[in-house]
Amino acid sequence: MVRYSIFDPVAANFDQHRELPEGVAESVRTAIWSTTRLPPATPILDLGAGTGRFGQVFVAANDFYVGVDSSQEMLREFLKHNAGACLILAEGQQLPFRDGTFGIVMLMQVLSGLRDWRGLLSEARRVLRPEGAIVVGHTVNPPQGINTQLKERLATILQEMNIGWHEPKKSRGQALAWLEASASRHDHVRAASWKTNLTPREFLVRRRTGARFAALPAAVQEEALQKLTAWAQNTFGSLDTISTEEHSFELDIFHHSK
Ligand SMILES: C[S@@+](CC[C@H](N)C(=O)[O-])C[C@H]1O[C@@H](n2cnc3c(N)ncnc32)[C@H](O)[C@@H]1O
Repeated sequence: MVRYSIFDPVAANFDQHRELPEGVAESVRTAIWSTTRLPPATPILDLGAGTGRFGQVFVAANDFYVGVDSSQEMLREFLKHNAGACLILAEGQQLPFRDGTFGIVMLMQVLSGLRDWRGLLSEARRVLRPEGAIVVGHTVNPPQGINTQLKERLATILQEMNIGWHEPKKSRGQALAWLEASASRHDHVRAASWKTNLTPREFLVRRRTGARFAALPAAVQEEALQKLTAWAQNTFGSLDTISTEEHSFELDIFHHSK
């Protein structure tokens, strides 16, 4: 049974701060089809479909697409773009599908935020056909870029405040190793890249709309952001210092065979 999701309160503002540059979602779709080489009618499950930043292009292309998410509000945003999309409200750890239903299972920007990645990936494997592919996608920021530095600093600040904050990189790495161990082949694909201008201020504004951060007590959020703001001013000179960075969207594609 699906209950309240921490993504519900941030759903309405999710896209505003995370819009993908034009053509990125289309390039991701093209890379998935060309790398998996599966027939065009192959059923695709988008697990953690969210507002449909990627799913929308599959729907528009008339792919056999099913989106699943545990947040009703995220799916409501998806439906605003594609009223006819096939979307199901469900927990990824308990999927309402028979074994071997899908040829492709996509997990886009989902793994880093998960604590129970094992439960979700076991279900992804169960509903995957024996010769299917699991596709994990995420945005890669430069290691010394503004986003990366601010994310790492925020994690340190929360740790120093004794706030339990999970380590996204670690759990994502463990999940990828689990997928690799059960796959017959693994491809890494840089599906799209783009240049973007960023400021520390944009990061600070966007952070308030991050589901896990927004779920912390208001006083904790304020204290952490005050500390991060002071650090950013000191480190970058101003909150409005512009940095031009190259970002990419990368896919790890785990192929299975009978
Ligand atoms: C960061 S958003 C990414 C959404 C979309 N894939 C994208 O790239 O825009 C993560 C999504 O995964 C969903 N999600 C997280 N845990 C889930 C679970 N256990 N079962 C189903 N959906 C889940 C959240 O509700 C949210 O919509």
